[in-house]
Amino acid sequence: MLKLGILVSGGGTNLQAILDAIASGRIRNACVSVVISNNRGAYALERAAAAGVKGRCISPKDYENRDLFYQALLQELQENGVDLVVLAGFLVGIPPMIVNAYENRIINIHPSLIPSFCGTGYYGLRVHEAALQRGVKVTGATVHFVDTGTDTGPIILQKAVEIREDDTPQSLQRRVMEQAEWQILPEAVSLIAQGRIEVNNGKVRIKP
Ligand code: GAR
Repeated sequence: MLKLGILVSGGGTNLQAILDAIASGRIRNACVSVVISNNRGAYALERAAAAGVKGRCISPKDYENRDLFYQALLQELQENGVDLVVLAGFLVGIPPMIVNAYENRIINIHPSLIPSFCGTGYYGLRVHEAALQRGVKVTGATVHFVDTGTDTGPIILQKAVEIREDDTPQSLQRRVMEQAEWQILPEAVSLIAQGRIEVNNGKVRIKP
């Protein structure tokens, strides 16, 4: 059984997609060991409680410095026996110390087709504002492994979403979530739980 540690900062709809996929059997061989938020008010923590899953808040505000915060985060993951860390709308950077402890065992959902609209400063609604600003016709979402860069790790799954002429950042964000994120994030977890993901030379191969 693959033990998941899900890191969140906000609404937690991607967390919900994983919880639902486990409940429905779409994800097998995986369970959520802990949900950790950097933000005490995150609605995602209520979703965890409603699903009967352990929720924790580890906030940088409660620590003297960033290193102590990251140490507490890593310790919480390890104490819960987490095998796979899922960044599900976690808007805090992951330092090399944690990346190295969980090499190719941290995945992130990003709301664009990487390498477009990603990297420092591209998160949440800003990604969709940038896509509309540039006038691209297609956007989407990407699940990738986390390395020491920002949105630079091996790509696991991507799904495209068409942009409409009357889209606002909000309508586009919603459609990218519905049509892409809530599908490919649980799917990636399921593939990893089935042992079907292999990483070679920075590229992912999905085993049949
Ligand atoms: C999602 O759209 C996710 O892709 C994005 O934050 C949102 C969280 O929503 N993540 C990033 O932008 C990471 N760079 P949620 O809390 O409802 O899952």
